Amino acid sequence: MSMASKESEDIKEYWNQRALAANKSPTATTDDVFLRELEIKTFVKKIGEMNLKEDSVVVDVGCGDGYSTLRIAAMFPCLKFVGIDYSDEMINTARRRLAEAAIAENQIVEFQVGDATTLSDIVPTNSANVVMTDRCLINLASPEAQYDAIEQISRILCKNGCYLAIENFIEGQNELNRTRAAIGLNEIPVRWHNLFFHEDEFLTRAKSYFKRVEIDNFSSAYYYATRVIYSKECQLNGTKPDYHHPIHQLAVDLPSIGSCSPIKLAVLVK
Ligand SMILES: C[S@@+](CC[C@H](N)C(=O)[O-])C[C@H]1O[C@@H](n2cnc3c(N)ncnc32)[C@H](O)[C@@H]1O
Repeated sequence: MSMASKESEDIKEYWNQRALAANKSPTATTDDVFLRELEIKTFVKKIGEMNLKEDSVVVDVGCGDGYSTLRIAAMFPCLKFVGIDYSDEMINTARRRLAEAAIAENQIVEFQVGDATTLSDIVPTNSANVVMTDRCLINLASPEAQYDAIEQISRILCKNGCYLAIENFIEGQNELNRTRAAIGLNEIPVRWHNLFFHEDEFLTRAKSYFKRVEIDNFSSAYYYATRVIYSKECQLNGTKPDYHHPIHQLAVDLPSIGSCSPIKLAVLVK
């Protein structure tokens, strides 16, 4: 097995283990549960603005345990949702969640095991109105695999379909770390299983497959409040940061300013 495929297997195993450990708690895909609230709010706003026709199809690639997919689906009972993830354990949890979810009786929501790197084998060409990824493509082992997945996403979208990508960018991480350093906080490293995008490269390469590509710093104020101000307070008080501290909940509603977060929303129109 090559180094790259060994690393990919390790990453998949990491997500399987997280799904098993979390069971149905909402921490399978992130410990920062309020950040995910902000992500859900951001997707709901964007999908709402699209005024999609009844039965339009939304595909959530790397849907994890289905927590966000189901929360978003509940806001759009006339749309069909398909969640795809390569982790069997994540999909098992998603299906269990679906069985108990408060979604409309005749709404179609499905979860299936599938890999973002072979997406166009699973989802028919031109069939989706919206594709979402939320911190999924940063798990792929190389830029080539990431941009190949983006090309496949463009293939499964219909004309004028929209790809909403919440993914991590190195420039935001660097800006965050510069801000932290200015007040004596340590650098936050990129985690072993993540490969962040470079903004210029993303814009250039994604424009080969999409007619419009825009990047929105939707979580900058959230990061400034939680990873700069709150982190400094913890350092001064000698306490360990806690994702359930009320500043996280408060920060979800801050209007975004600056570009101080690795996590950005890219809106790509086919
Ligand atoms: C950070 S979690 C986010 C999950 C979900 N989108 C959310 O926001 O809660 C990343 C997810 O991507 C999935 N994933 C990573 N690489 C993938 C791939 N190549 N194909 C499909 N899913 C993948 C993982 O199994 C994991 O569930």
